[in-house]
Amino acid sequence: MSKRTLITSALPYANGPIHLGHLAGAYLPADLYTRYRRLRGDDVIHICGSDEHGVPITITADKKGVSPKQIVDEYHERNKKVFREFGIDFDYYGRTSSPVHHKTSQAFFLTLNEKGIFRKKKEKQLCDPETGMFLPDRYVKGTCPSCGYEEAHGDQCERCGSSLSPLELKEPRSTLTGNKPELKETEHWYLPLGDLQPEIEKWIDSRKNWKPNVLGQCRSWLKEGLSDRAVTRDLSWGVPVPLESARTKVLYVWFDAPIGYISATKEWAEEQGDPELWKTYWQDDETELIHFIGKDNIVFHCIMFPLMLLKHGDYVLPENVPANEFLNLEGRKLSTSKGWAVWLEEYLEHFEPDLLRYVLGTTLPETKDSDFSWQDFQTRVNSELADILGNFLYRTLSFTERFFDGKVPPLVNPNEKDLRALKSIKTSGEKIGKAYEKFRLREAIAETMNLARIGNKYFTETEPWKTRKEDPQSCANTLHVSVQIAAALSILFTPVLPNKMSTLRDQLGISGEAAWNDLDDSMIEPGRKISSGDILFTKIEDDVIEKELERLKRRAAEAAEAAGDSESEESYTPLKKRTDFNKFSAIDLRVGRITNAEEIPKADKLLKLTVDLGFEIRTILAGIRKQYDPDEVIGRKVCVVANLEPKKMMGIESNGMVLMAEEQDGKLQFLSTDAEVGSPIF
Ligand code: MF3
Ligand code: ZN
Repeated sequence: MSKRTLITSALPYANGPIHLGHLAGAYLPADLYTRYRRLRGDDVIHICGSDEHGVPITITADKKGVSPKQIVDEYHERNKKVFREFGIDFDYYGRTSSPVHHKTSQAFFLTLNEKGIFRKKKEKQLCDPETGMFLPDRYVKGTCPSCGYEEAHGDQCERCGSSLSPLELKEPRSTLTGNKPELKETEHWYLPLGDLQPEIEKWIDSRKNWKPNVLGQCRSWLKEGLSDRAVTRDLSWGVPVPLESARTKVLYVWFDAPIGYISATKEWAEEQGDPELWKTYWQDDETELIHFIGKDNIVFHCIMFPLMLLKHGDYVLPENVPANEFLNLEGRKLSTSKGWAVWLEEYLEHFEPDLLRYVLGTTLPETKDSDFSWQDFQTRVNSELADILGNFLYRTLSFTERFFDGKVPPLVNPNEKDLRALKSIKTSGEKIGKAYEKFRLREAIAETMNLARIGNKYFTETEPWKTRKEDPQSCANTLHVSVQIAAALSILFTPVLPNKMSTLRDQLGISGEAAWNDLDDSMIEPGRKISSGDILFTKIEDDVIEKELERLKRRAAEAAEAAGDSESEESYTPLKKRTDFNKFSAIDLRVGRITNAEEIPKADKLLKLTVDLGFEIRTILAGIRKQYDPDEVIGRKVCVVANLEPKKMMGIESNGMVLMAEEQDGKLQFLSTDAEVGSPIF
């Protein structure tokens, strides 16, 4: 274990409210992990703040007809507040518009510049002839060269999904004035990632304990070959480039934003009354830097920022970047513009923070995309928090109160069962600790709930309501043991349920902060007075959940309507050119059955399928790993392209292809059939 740890969570853009997708990607895992490390008594700080620059901010401002500053001021405050209410316990929540940040990121740029790291390149860029402004990709619209959609953006066509550059658009126009943009020459400072690739590759190869999904993405970027990235932009909103020769330019948002972690740490140190303290977190090799992010930020945190830090020379590099995949909502991709999201502010109007912390914590997209549904929320609250944890605690406390005058009875002549239950405190603690250390937070939470389950089962099986009369000592032992388990839970569940566990500790008469070191099977001494107080978890009724679902659907419908016909037009995949019948019938399609499915190490998109075609058994690789677990697909009948040339991927020969239908949101569905295995399809 290192001496100290600096934990960061991706700085969210201050152009909109926080939703469940944000929480599941970075903030909840970061908070769970930080709270765990604090519980252990480690020296950790958790730093975050608002990302207030970049095109996303100015686009929101333009849309709402206000200044970028108004936007970031509003959302900085709102997001900071809602994180606090949800119990995301940052040591400091900064913002990239702060003077300290401007100075820090400018100094960083100058250091790299003086070291000769950057390369200057002249290039032609689209410019609005009326305002004289260079146009970021998103500020150019035009006709899509692949599908003819007239409202395609400069970076992507929303209808056919092609990724574009503004120069490819037909009939391009500036979204500012509608004018046809002109090409104008400009000069930018580039981080030469291409040349620096060997250095970063070597470093990434040394990252042995990173999550496979993160390493996989890094390797695939490296395999494609890195291209140089401009770190300056011709914009007016951002950190000004601190050079005479670049007076109208600002730093690229992905250059300045991660430096925001450093600036925020400086401001934190200032607040502690020890302005130099930030250096021990950023410049001392004994510090472990850990970035919590969502998967769309991997390249910036695993390649670009580490290279910046490496080339600067004064800073530590990240020890780990435990990035998460994406969270879906009710089986669909989360989308704020389509109104398909649950906003945290709204959630908190109706429910307590700890419920969502638990449910989301158990469904974090740690290794692949996962899904949040209101139904699942209700089920987990009712059958896990209320029926297991809540029930166990309430039974224990109220029974002690009623029949033992609220005083914890001593343990006398415990039997096998009592001892086994007591012992599970230690074994659970060990398992939970190990899971947290490995960033397996879902597992950590499941193991914690498991201790409550053990307690609950023990209570039921020892039947204190019977032994109370028949065998009072056995009854007393049951309560003694149950109270000790409850006390252990009040420590072990603290990262997940900070509010509830603090209430529980009050009920148990435990003073002071929870600490892992106190974890023991005799935390509460006999005779201690405890009180049952309120029930900690109540069940959620069906109609409450129905209301949430209705709200979600209503908002999606409103968003579709507000977007108007042109924008919200259902995107469709353009039809391919006509082909003749002979070409079609040359393809041999067959009914097959998946008889086995396995994951392939290092390939996070592929499953290795064994497919029975009746006359022959095939190995087929399918790019469905993100959506399907091996168990889900074994036994399915599928349509197979049976006469394709075999193809080698990841060192395995794939002999055929399983047909899938891709839905609008990217979801893949099998084409299934009841026909006999081996039947031809035509
Ligand atoms: N604002 C970015 C996003 O929401 C994240 C910035 S992370 C930082 O995707 F490192 F740049 F700060
Ligand atoms: Zn298109």
